[in-house]
Amino acid sequence: MPLIHECVVTTLSPEGRPHIAPLGLIEEQGYWIAAPFRPSSTLFNLTHHAKATASFTDDARIFAGLVVGQRNWPLTDIEDWPAPRLSAALAHAELAVVRVEEHELRPRFFCKVRRIESHRAFLGMNRARAAVLEAAILATRLDMLPREKIESELAYLQIAVDKTAGAAEREAWDMVKTKIDAHQRAKADMAQ
Ligand SMILES: Cc1cc2nc3c(=O)[nH]c(=O)nc-3n(C[C@H](O)[C@H](O)[C@H](O)COP(=O)(O)O)c2cc1C
Repeated sequence: MPLIHECVVTTLSPEGRPHIAPLGLIEEQGYWIAAPFRPSSTLFNLTHHAKATASFTDDARIFAGLVVGQRNWPLTDIEDWPAPRLSAALAHAELAVVRVEEHELRPRFFCKVRRIESHRAFLGMNRARAAVLEAAILATRLDMLPREKIESELAYLQIAVDKTAGAAEREAWDMVKTKIDAHQRAKADMAQ
């Protein structure tokens, strides 16, 4: 399996309006591949605008916020590149789509990295941030996963949050957990 970089990708609408979404970019044979599911704004935008930006951040609240619908994270323009980066990015990569592999469900956009630029120091891995990332991914797949799997994964991830989270990570965890709990309750109500 290739390495996947979990990041926030800025794409541009045909009118040039930026859209941000968390995405896993697959690093394979010199390309970084974006594989957004249909339908999504990211997919629509990439078919209309071949330039995108990946922002790398250690702020778990941004991943959490985006999956619960908070989209107004500040963006910063990049010189000579149309897709802005997250202002909070530790680093960003400018991505040019050079080839598209069509697929019914999940087309693959093969990108070349034009430039990578650093903005802030990376101060090390953190288990709670990784746990929030996992929970955020779960939160985007709730309809595809059985209730028991969601609950057992959350219980396991909660351990890392309890042991290693700072205030920002707890805030991010609570955002994602609230969304997942509401979904679980709604599913249970429907089953009655
Ligand atoms: C860490 C993380 C990685 C994700 N990676 C992908 C991905 O590779 N492909 C995908 O379709 N969705 C992925 N998602 C879910 C998308 O972010 C989500 O479906 C989003 O709403 C994209 O739709 P949009 O472009 O319409 O905003 C990921 C979510 C998270 C939290």
